[in-house]
Amino acid sequence: MKLKLVLLITFFVGVSYGNDPRWNDCKDTFCNRLRGSPKVSYSVDLASLKIEEQTNKLVGSLNPKSGNGAKLALTVSLLEEEIFHISIDQEEHSTPPRYRAHDALVENGEAFNTAKPSISKSHATVDVSYKNLKVTIYEYPMKFEFYNNNRLFSVVNPNNRFVFETDNQNNEVAIGLDVSFKDAQRAYGLPEHADHLALRDTVKEEPYRHFNLDYGGYEIESTQALYGSIGVLYAHGNEYSSGAFWLNAAQSWFDITNGPNQIDAYFMSESGVLDLFILPGPTLPHAAKQYTKLTGTAPLPQYFTLGYHQSRYSYMTQDEVVEVVTKFDENSLPIDVMWLDIDYTEEKKYFTWDPERFSDPEKLISDLTKTNRKLVAIIDPHIKVDDTYFLHQTATKEHYYIRNSTGADFQGECWPGLSSYLDFLNPKVREYYSQLYLDHHFQNKDVHVWNDMNEPAVFKQPNDEHTMPLDAIHYLGYKHRDVHNIYGFYQTIGTRTGMLQRKDKVRPFILTRSHFAGIQRYAAIWTGDNSATWDYLKISFPMCLTEALAGVSFCGADVAGFSGIPDDELYQRWYQAGAWLPFYRGHSAIDVPRREPYLYGEDIKQRVLVALRQRYAHLPVWYTLFFEHEQTGEPVIRPITYHYPKESDAFDIENEVLLGSNILAAPVLERGVLQNRVYLPGGNEEIWYNIDENFKPYRGNGSHLLTVNMDSVPVFYKSGSIIPRKDTPRAVSADTHQDPYTLYIVLNAEGRAEGKLYVDDGESFSYQQKKFNYVNLVFEKDTLTVLNLVDGTSYPDAAPIKNLVIVNPPLAVTRVQKTEESSTIELNSVYSENNNVLFVNNFTAKLQNGFKIKLTTTPSSA
Ligand code: GLC
Repeated sequence: MKLKLVLLITFFVGVSYGNDPRWNDCKDTFCNRLRGSPKVSYSVDLASLKIEEQTNKLVGSLNPKSGNGAKLALTVSLLEEEIFHISIDQEEHSTPPRYRAHDALVENGEAFNTAKPSISKSHATVDVSYKNLKVTIYEYPMKFEFYNNNRLFSVVNPNNRFVFETDNQNNEVAIGLDVSFKDAQRAYGLPEHADHLALRDTVKEEPYRHFNLDYGGYEIESTQALYGSIGVLYAHGNEYSSGAFWLNAAQSWFDITNGPNQIDAYFMSESGVLDLFILPGPTLPHAAKQYTKLTGTAPLPQYFTLGYHQSRYSYMTQDEVVEVVTKFDENSLPIDVMWLDIDYTEEKKYFTWDPERFSDPEKLISDLTKTNRKLVAIIDPHIKVDDTYFLHQTATKEHYYIRNSTGADFQGECWPGLSSYLDFLNPKVREYYSQLYLDHHFQNKDVHVWNDMNEPAVFKQPNDEHTMPLDAIHYLGYKHRDVHNIYGFYQTIGTRTGMLQRKDKVRPFILTRSHFAGIQRYAAIWTGDNSATWDYLKISFPMCLTEALAGVSFCGADVAGFSGIPDDELYQRWYQAGAWLPFYRGHSAIDVPRREPYLYGEDIKQRVLVALRQRYAHLPVWYTLFFEHEQTGEPVIRPITYHYPKESDAFDIENEVLLGSNILAAPVLERGVLQNRVYLPGGNEEIWYNIDENFKPYRGNGSHLLTVNMDSVPVFYKSGSIIPRKDTPRAVSADTHQDPYTLYIVLNAEGRAEGKLYVDDGESFSYQQKKFNYVNLVFEKDTLTVLNLVDGTSYPDAAPIKNLVIVNPPLAVTRVQKTEESSTIELNSVYSENNNVLFVNNFTAKLQNGFKIKLTTTPSSA
């Protein structure tokens, strides 16, 4: 593994980071101290526990029972969202008080209602209950048992490993807590790591680490820290699933023990208050949605963001950018977005344009927008130290930078050379920064933003792992060690705030590399600097599935690997597979040859074209799922086990994704395979139709070996579902707006199918004023009907439905009739015997009106 790491790092020949950093292990950090046994053990002062009138919270004290500890303040609340919250802080506050990462929560957590619980005390315990939920608090050793409908599902501090250090002087202010989860066979979550979906047992290995790092060519199958840190853990089982959300912005480590029927976790953070939410489940979908009740959902993105993005580090002139689009068009390859990496700026000064190579940004933007393309420009958080640079001047004068421990503005190396870093934790800095997006060309509604290097990356700091020293000083005097993981999150808040104030307000698109819990409310993410190898292609699936369970559905990986040169086979497979993850962008490093798909030979180009067209055909599905995600918190992509927890064999399936619940994508992720193993869930009665094999049916009885060739991309529609598609090939998603829908109706054994479709203008916020159509499409008793799902909504511009493809149709259909606004007409149909599909083509049915299409299977008397 170590050798692999060295080889990967050597790919970075063109990127000078200074000395290679040594990434810390547990033993190099506070983690080592905590992993041992606690020095102080605590008891709950039961007599002190009382319900605070105003807040409904249970408050009281924890007393050190042995050793030299400080008295602690305990708060336990039961949110009306049916989530438990435990918070522990010092009774006597330090200056500044211990950091709370509450901006990660929806409205800082202020909007949650704490339920009024009932309390019952015995001599050694207190029961706190609300509806079906109960927590029993034990005096000594301090312990909390969590019950759902009288079923014990989780225990906090079962092994008395709770630690709460208070030695500020020596920076020993870490916290630790153990939590066990009953009836669980797998642990998922805690992104970001380049590891499997199911978390490994770490007891004899390195724990999972959270410390946002700029780690190009990162090691795969590793618990090492990466760019993002989201402390949500799920304990998943056949019978019960629950979870916990550890909310802390400091460096954190997580030990996992996988017992036969229990998951044990030990949470450790370097500083801050102890903030733990217990998610009672009882299923993985319940627990994942409970988590998004806390941290929010992603706002509906613009339609174009789900199309294909083309990036490179860097397109060096504006003509080159426009030329790429022209070449895509000449080759009929669809594309929605062009990306500008750091070289568009003048000397890496953000919010400027290189006067020679990007001399006329106005023209660049209009060249793109006249064909409905969009632009994404990179804006990093480091600011070039240059007295002639307006941003540096203001930031210096107004004290907007993070300071080092001596009080001077921190300076370190990044892309521009010597740089300082805006302190985004300061609301005044965010306010100033947001206004920069209203200046010059950055206020253009079709220019969107990429916030990168915001862990933050600081080169030539080998001892600080290429990031800010932990004793750097932020807003209110917090040390960098307290807030490290939430820094980039605050940058994206500033960015989004600015973009929302633009004259022509549309839904902003932001991509960020650093991320923290709640980031989905502001930005999409990608898996950073991967390499062009099969291992990175493969790991991108569990990485994005894990993010999706942690609230961040809008995730993708650089197609076809950032550094290194993909061989032809990998290149094609990556385009085929990338089309089935939410964020679909080709990107490559500065030192590798250009690799836009039109540069390849006919057969490769053709396969990429097919992959892109599949993506565009399914945009209505992606868009509908993103709408539903915003409403319900349901992830857009899901591991198989999300919907099939009873199937233990599906626990570890991570190279397939469910898009919603009706589409299963199992692209080929391995070199040279003639057969691809695919797991299909649901049992013998569940039929999955492979769209790649002309709707060949397969049973959902587990593992199948599919014969594949280079054209194959196994993708299945589930029986009983209706999939809305737009099949007319176009150059850009905006051009499909008025294109008609084709409904793929896949009937189950009872002749039933159902699916949803969401439509709006694709860019504005008018959907928040009910300007949309969201319909349930139902086929039963030989009739298709459309049901409006939300009262009072209207979007008259929705494209019509024009074709039906009915898989497994009723036998001997003799007549098809459409009834719309009380007029009935006959429709033509053609039955294809070889794949048992009935086509009904070339009619027009408006979603807005509601309509019926009826099949008659025997000569009708009507
Ligand atoms: C970082 C990003 C990469 C980008 C490069 C230059 O390495 O992860 O995507 O191209 O910086 O901005």
